[in-house]
Amino acid sequence: MSKQNLTLRWGILATGGIAQSFAKDLTVDPKTRNVTNLTHVVEAAASSSSKSRAEQFLKDVDAPSSARAYGSYEELVKDPNVDIIYVATPHSHHYQNTMLCLNAGKHVLCEKAFTTNAAQAKLLVNKAQERGLFLMEAVWTRYFPISAYVRELITSGKLGALTRVSAANDKAGDPYNKHADGKHRMVNMDLAGGALLDLGIYSLTWLFQTLYLTQPEGKRARPSVVGSSMKKFPTGADTDTTILMKFPNGGGDEGDAQGIATTSMIVDSDVDGKGTSGPAVRIQGEKGEVQVWPPIYRPTKTRLILADGTCEDKQWPQPGPGKGSGWYNGFGGDMQPEGEGQGMFWEADECGFALMEGRKEGRLEGWEESVLIMEVMDEVREQNGMKYPKEVESVEYPLKMK
Ligand SMILES: NC(=O)c1ccc[n+]([C@@H]2O[C@H](COP(=O)([O-])OP(=O)(O)OC[C@H]3O[C@@H](n4cnc5c(N)ncnc54)[C@H](OP(=O)(O)O)[C@@H]3O)[C@@H](O)[C@H]2O)c1
Repeated sequence: MSKQNLTLRWGILATGGIAQSFAKDLTVDPKTRNVTNLTHVVEAAASSSSKSRAEQFLKDVDAPSSARAYGSYEELVKDPNVDIIYVATPHSHHYQNTMLCLNAGKHVLCEKAFTTNAAQAKLLVNKAQERGLFLMEAVWTRYFPISAYVRELITSGKLGALTRVSAANDKAGDPYNKHADGKHRMVNMDLAGGALLDLGIYSLTWLFQTLYLTQPEGKRARPSVVGSSMKKFPTGADTDTTILMKFPNGGGDEGDAQGIATTSMIVDSDVDGKGTSGPAVRIQGEKGEVQVWPPIYRPTKTRLILADGTCEDKQWPQPGPGKGSGWYNGFGGDMQPEGEGQGMFWEADECGFALMEGRKEGRLEGWEESVLIMEVMDEVREQNGMKYPKEVESVEYPLKMK
């Protein structure tokens, strides 16, 4: 029987950059996005480095004073008052950390990339299935209203049969100067670094949510990787990757559609940070196209251009406490305007809705699709000879990681 109301009690596993943004977004009143039957609480947080780090984290994200701090992930998963755990460690550690949570009987929202490879992803899915637990990859963008708008333009036939989708997620990080020692998670192979798993996942997200998810359920045809190319950092992590894909039936009754996913940590999709570089996603059909402005993981602008003369720009600001609240959220040094949420609450809501309805998977990216996307990334790495260290690719559990 489904529940009418829910207070979802979150445990936050790791205290880095994205854990902070996510936990702060949980404190935003759900009514600001018209959600009235669900509330979120930061119930506890754990740091692998120290309990005091977790305590500081809870203060920084304005968690309730009753929230508990732990100095190890093992302690967090034992907390009986935690319903669901948000895993926010580097991708190298997702398999081990998520397995720890599932084994302890906790539901999990795990950051992207879901795992290092598809074999690990499949085992997590098997475990969630076996234990009857909810498990979702935290691809937050799929749950934004802007993404729903784009998908609706496709499924309603407004764009006509799709021919091509191109998506670029380029974020210039100056790795040759800033990460020359190879230790930063973006270039560190021990932390499953590289543009593909960290940034390219969003380019693939746009290909998949437009050319795959929009196909009728049960009839979604498996896409193929036609070719790919990589440029690599001295550590072996990719700095630039380009993937060409074919989506059978991605163009509806017209048949195949082509997908081009690009990613880079050298160049930027939004050079001046003001949108001057133009759109970073183009979804092209026979009646017109819709364009999405960067950053494509948190887009706020679309342009619809139709052959009938329509040209419609739309802005998609994120809800939040609003101007005058003195409240800010963001990621790293990139703060959003005053009172505007980061936008991670949409995926948190999805977890709550799923638990209320008794679902074990996300509505807009289920297990099958998360595994499929990991398989695509496996293939691209294989085509380009990119392998992570043995322990990072391992499916052994438990395994002590660096
Ligand atoms: N959704 C998004 O927009 C978004 C944005 C950025 C990143 N991400 C994803 O979120 C994950 C974390 O990224 P982040 O930018 O938050 O990274 P980060 O700032 O480096 O934080 C990672 C945290 O993981 C914990 N950790 C455990 N073992 C570690 C190890 N061996 N090395 C480093 N850290 C370790 C640490 O927390 P403790 O010491 O407290 O345990 C660390 O603070 C990645 O999978 C990334 O792809 C998502």
